[in-house]
Amino acid sequence: MKTFEKYTPLFLILSILVMSNLTWACRRADPPKSKSSSMPLEDDQKKIIVKESEDSDIDPDETEEDTAHDDQDFDLICEGYVPPTMTQHLPQVIIIGAKKGGTRALIEFLKLHPQLKAAGPEIHYFNKNYDKGVDWYISRMPPAEKNNLVMEKTPGYFHHPQSAQRLYETTKDSKLLLILRDPVKRLVSDYNQFRSKNLAEGKTYPMLEELVFNKDGSVDITYPPLQRSIYHHHISRWFKYFPKEQIHIVHGESFIKEPWSELRKVEQFLDVPTVITEDNFFFNQTKGFYCGKEMRTTGVWDCVKRKCLSKSKGRPKPPLAEGTLDKLYRFFAEHNKIFYALVGHDYGWKPKE
Ligand code: A3P
Repeated sequence: MKTFEKYTPLFLILSILVMSNLTWACRRADPPKSKSSSMPLEDDQKKIIVKESEDSDIDPDETEEDTAHDDQDFDLICEGYVPPTMTQHLPQVIIIGAKKGGTRALIEFLKLHPQLKAAGPEIHYFNKNYDKGVDWYISRMPPAEKNNLVMEKTPGYFHHPQSAQRLYETTKDSKLLLILRDPVKRLVSDYNQFRSKNLAEGKTYPMLEELVFNKDGSVDITYPPLQRSIYHHHISRWFKYFPKEQIHIVHGESFIKEPWSELRKVEQFLDVPTVITEDNFFFNQTKGFYCGKEMRTTGVWDCVKRKCLSKSKGRPKPPLAEGTLDKLYRFFAEHNKIFYALVGHDYGWKPKE
């Protein structure tokens, strides 16, 4: 075969990748590793500098994002092969919530594990798209090898009235992950998401106090972001269908402080080798959060992919009136106790002393 023809597929892949907006970078591994499926490279092919971006392209409301293609590109360039045996099937792992609990960070960081493959955007099958049928649901899943575990995350499942039953009837053996933050912080974050979107569109938005408190100052229990934080109410529904051992709860605050410690527990729960470590993270001072760092040295290339979450994660806090947080913590104290009793663990959600 002529040299040009031999390298044409590689040139094509590289051109497509360099033209697209990539969040990872590769350089030739030194010394080059020999791999039967890899082609030898000429000198001018060895250096590929592709754009690294601190901010992911995730849409704030997560309906348009599609990170799956990027992952497949990463696999292609780093390992230089087209896997022949991939299939699409029901997810074995589902992140069911909670909204604003840290679900995007959780699924992005779990993707650092080579065995875990995730659907890019939220699917909303059991809460919004159930009438589209199970084949539609499966078609949204990433292609996976036999030893992969396929995951999806849709935070709305946790508080949706029919999701637990529908999920049970569709895929009752899937392992469920739930990431929960202090319910007061989650409620404020939930409110803040609506507020930010409205302000970004040039609209005004009420103060939290106008929404969460009645005129007489009592808590308005009909306010949806508040309802979504009454965790015992929602978890009871899931416990009707799934044994406790099938739902692993990730502690949202610990996950922010030390993502690798919580991820280790998730790896154990999923029964996959523990490979994600502190080395897979770096702290981004500007964001005030950890970002993920994936390194692969298999194949011809040393590749590094950095993953910080978009600006819609870790927003500046909204203004709150004095006393609001105290009042909300008083309201949630009893609810949290019921939740701790149900799950058999005290998460320590209380105001800072
Ligand atoms: P805030 O924006 O209120 O800070 P979800 O992905 O479920 O919508 O959750 C968003 C929340 O994830 C953010 O809420 C943020 O606190 C939390 N989070 C946890 N780890 C994060 C990380 N490494 N980077 C950005 N946000 C993270």
